[in-house]
Amino acid sequence: MCFATAVLIMTLFNFILAFTHKVNAQEFPPDFKFGIATASYQIEGAWNEDGKGENIWDHFTHTSSDKIFDHSNADVACDSYHKYETDIALLKELGVDFYRFSLSWPRILPTGYVDDGVNQAGVEYYNNILNLLDQNGIEAMVTLYHWDLPQHLHERMGGWLNETIVDIFAKYADLAFHIFGERVKYWTTFNEPYIFCQYGYENGTYAPGLASNRGVDVYVCGHNILKSHAAAYDIYDKTYRKKQKGKISIVLTAIWAKPSTYTRKDFEAAERNLQFQFGWFAHPIIKGNYPQVMINRIGERSTKEGFKKSRLPKFTNEEVRQIKDTYDFIGVNHYTTTMVKWMDDVQIGEPSAFNDLSVEEYYKDSWKSSGSAWLKVVPYGIRDMCKWIKKNYNNPSIIITENGYSDPKLILHDFNRTIFYKEYLKYLLQAVYDDRVDIQGYTVWSLLDNFEWNQGYSAKFGLYAINFTDPNRTRIPKDSANFYKAIVKTRRLK
Ligand SMILES: *[C@@H]1O[C@H](CO)[C@@H](O)[C@H](O)[C@H]1NC(C)=O
Ligand SMILES: *[C@@H]1O[C@H](CO)[C@@H](O)[C@H](O)[C@H]1NC(C)=O
Ligand SMILES: *[C@@H]1O[C@H](CO)[C@@H](O)[C@H](O)[C@H]1NC(C)=O
Ligand SMILES: *[C@@H]1O[C@H](CO)[C@@H](O)[C@H](O)[C@H]1NC(C)=O
Ligand SMILES: *[C@@H]1O[C@H](CO)[C@@H](O)[C@H](O)[C@H]1NC(C)=O
Repeated sequence: MCFATAVLIMTLFNFILAFTHKVNAQEFPPDFKFGIATASYQIEGAWNEDGKGENIWDHFTHTSSDKIFDHSNADVACDSYHKYETDIALLKELGVDFYRFSLSWPRILPTGYVDDGVNQAGVEYYNNILNLLDQNGIEAMVTLYHWDLPQHLHERMGGWLNETIVDIFAKYADLAFHIFGERVKYWTTFNEPYIFCQYGYENGTYAPGLASNRGVDVYVCGHNILKSHAAAYDIYDKTYRKKQKGKISIVLTAIWAKPSTYTRKDFEAAERNLQFQFGWFAHPIIKGNYPQVMINRIGERSTKEGFKKSRLPKFTNEEVRQIKDTYDFIGVNHYTTTMVKWMDDVQIGEPSAFNDLSVEEYYKDSWKSSGSAWLKVVPYGIRDMCKWIKKNYNNPSIIITENGYSDPKLILHDFNRTIFYKEYLKYLLQAVYDDRVDIQGYTVWSLLDNFEWNQGYSAKFGLYAINFTDPNRTRIPKDSANFYKAIVKTRRLK
């Protein structure tokens, strides 16, 4: 066939494809999966029951309650440790394909170390959840680490700042695969390391609350996370994948960065922002090693600051190989967008991750607010973010592992949340059909109003409300629960 004919046929083909997609643009692909998410510390409560060890958020909220907006903690939270059957009934009611939840490491291993012994009650708790999900035909997507490090590890060996945690984490992961893996369809190692390294080890507003070694610890944290992730992936791949047939990856922060103007400088600043955020973890995992812009900038600034080595740790060639290609899909947590503007590099002085990046960020006045200062409603951002990942990161399979909206108070007729989901899903469908991004699933954050880290109970993300002064912690459906239920049922937006 001559070239011109081939081009003509391809054009016709694309035209027909585009036409069918317009017709079906409201409909999700047949194998697309819908889920909903929670995390252990935010919902479980029972912080010291049945042999569970203390975690860094237990410790942080108990010792630095001034850092939590309403001085609260998650000692009881949604009491899901005792109410998991109720929660699973809600999942059944919603009709979701999968439930994304996390394991509390110290509930299973009170000190964090496998050798110190397994807490059987903790294992039973997750066994019960997995069995009940299975009985209800709901797939499990399990996060190994959603920010609740055993406090013992932090105190005894420095937690994520000590390289020996790689092996300690790998042993925990191995145990989890061994005990639970038959019933787990999707594993993710870490939830949003960008956030917990940044806010736990540089900014200090999250547990463990460190901010004393700025521009250094934050990158050590990220470095050890990447190595731990790769070690866990390797164990799953070699020992469990064949038998358990699940998938495994990591969940990354994905805040879309929109250039302030259409100038080369603002584009460069926005791109740099994305590389220092998403690329910090995605680049080593998908392409190998850190983004060049991070290596260059942090290296140059470190030299000027008088450091002998770059504050960004270096991977050996062997480590680059070990970390590359450790994903079966990419978990993307997307909520919001930031405007990014060029600024001249912050002068050499105090080292900090913020100075390494050196961009100006702001929100547009026209963007709608939510109950969280950081969460502005920018629906097209989810499409642009997915498109950017496809283009820059080898078109990976993507699962949106979190997306959601917070109200500032208990509201059952949560019109704003419903609009949020309607709009974001509209743009997600455009990413699927118009941009052909390989998006395989979508996850609402969250099932329940819960403990929202340093915002305490003041930011409410649930499709089900909880009145936290009610000792029963009764779950009450919001309008958005019915809205999501209809989408999951019809597989359509309208
Ligand atoms: C790192 O952890 C190991 C044990 O895992 C410990 O022997 C060592 O002292 C720790 N290093 C630091 C700097 O805390
Ligand atoms: C931590 O982050 C918050 C929010 O971005 C900011 O207002 C605060 O100044 C930061 N604190 C430090 C110590 O960096
Ligand atoms: C819904 O959003 C609008 C626009 O941002 C805001 O004015 C209103 O207060 C919100 N409603 C609730 C119940 O939060
Ligand atoms: C929450 O529960 C408490 C105690 O049961 C009750 O007094 C209060 O009115 C409830 N608040 C709301 C908003 O329902
Ligand atoms: C809590 O549950 C008990 C027993 O089911 C019930 O009698 C009581 O009314 C409930 N309280 C609230 C505030 O819902």
